[in-house]
Amino acid sequence: MDQALILGTPLSPNATRVMLLGSGELGKEVIIALQRLGVETIAVDRYANAPGHQVAHRAHVINMADDQVLRALVEQEKPHIIVPEIEAIATDMLAQIEHDGLATVIPTARAAQLTMNREGIRRLAAETLQLPTSPYVFADSLDELKTAIDENIGYPCIVKPVMSSSGKGQSKVDSVAEVEAAWRYAASGGRVDQGRVIVEGVIQFDYEITQLTVRARNAEKETVTHFCEPIGHKQVHGDYVESWQPQTMSPIALQRAHDFAKEITGNLGGLGVFGVELFVKDDAVWFSEVSPRPHDTGLVTLCSQVQNEFELHARAILGLPVDVTLQAPGASAVIYGGMEAKGVAFGGVREALYVPQSDLRLFGKPEAFKRRRMGVALANGSDTDEARTRAKLAAGKVTPTMNP
Ligand SMILES: Nc1ncnc2c1ncn2[C@@H]1O[C@H](COP(=O)(O)OP(=O)(O)O)[C@@H](O)[C@H]1O
Ligand SMILES: [Mg+2]
Repeated sequence: MDQALILGTPLSPNATRVMLLGSGELGKEVIIALQRLGVETIAVDRYANAPGHQVAHRAHVINMADDQVLRALVEQEKPHIIVPEIEAIATDMLAQIEHDGLATVIPTARAAQLTMNREGIRRLAAETLQLPTSPYVFADSLDELKTAIDENIGYPCIVKPVMSSSGKGQSKVDSVAEVEAAWRYAASGGRVDQGRVIVEGVIQFDYEITQLTVRARNAEKETVTHFCEPIGHKQVHGDYVESWQPQTMSPIALQRAHDFAKEITGNLGGLGVFGVELFVKDDAVWFSEVSPRPHDTGLVTLCSQVQNEFELHARAILGLPVDVTLQAPGASAVIYGGMEAKGVAFGGVREALYVPQSDLRLFGKPEAFKRRRMGVALANGSDTDEARTRAKLAAGKVTPTMNP
């Protein structure tokens, strides 16, 4: 977006305005990066005092899945750029907004449409682009699910709602006795569509990575693709608990990771950071899914890269150059709420920060849940083993408590 090549003054008529749709911990960091470039930021979320609301010029609380409400807010705020941070958005309206020339949608409205539903992105990757993926079938009923497993996928398999994130509604199924529970859990955990699931064969990978991939302009204003060092991560119940960078890979596997990432992000198009999730076993690589935005496992880049993934996103979407250089091996470890309470207090922060080369992000979420991500510990080390040990140690010292 050429207009943004000249950055204006925030809160003045020539301001460069960016609207975040979703303002959690990832959006908050993107906003901070934009603020540092003097961009006017508008944070939108479904609840008040979301992390990004606390650092933006203006904050709005709306139902982003309501197309008319979304349109009205865009017409009111007139952002030059719209940055989706979550998947549960009226993406058809984003396409309309893009079509009407109201704003540039990052990376593209089509990318938001395809990735809000597992079916769109999976069919694109596996069927159109022919990338290797787990075997999969979509099902609309318990009977269809049973048939799909019996005739196609077998055990063990993984059942997921087509619309969900962070492992919500997802379960591993080891035998026929577990199928019905998995169906019910998916129906309850899905976001919008209550009745469609994907069932995937389990890939017995050695490790999984996020290949952060940045599409940014070069000096000739052409779009070029940059690859960050691979990020290794550990998932529990489909939710990330720990990540580290760099993840060591064989040269062949790394080349495949780059090839697959280039292929899928090139098809989605536009500018910005993508988190390409891949499974790896020896030299074999499978595509799993992709976020057309910074990735939660990429929180590690807050301590491991010269420009973290949020700065990379901010720069790329403004048409500015990026640098994906690794600064030092690093790791992140998640701090969970551990309880259901509003306005929690965090004990042990002092002790956590005595861990060498450690740092913390406390997101400022107004309400804690047992498995809600409230913060993250970061650490560097001489290698990722040392960084991981330190990050986990620091995270373990932070204890959310009822507000005294
Ligand atoms: N087919 C699969 N084979 C092996 N592990 C899987 C498979 N699908 C999902 N997983 C595990 O579950 C995690 C979350 O699944 P994912 O599809 O990424 O859901 P979400 O969109 O909620 O992040 C993955 O990172 C991986 O650890
Ligand atoms: Mg995922």
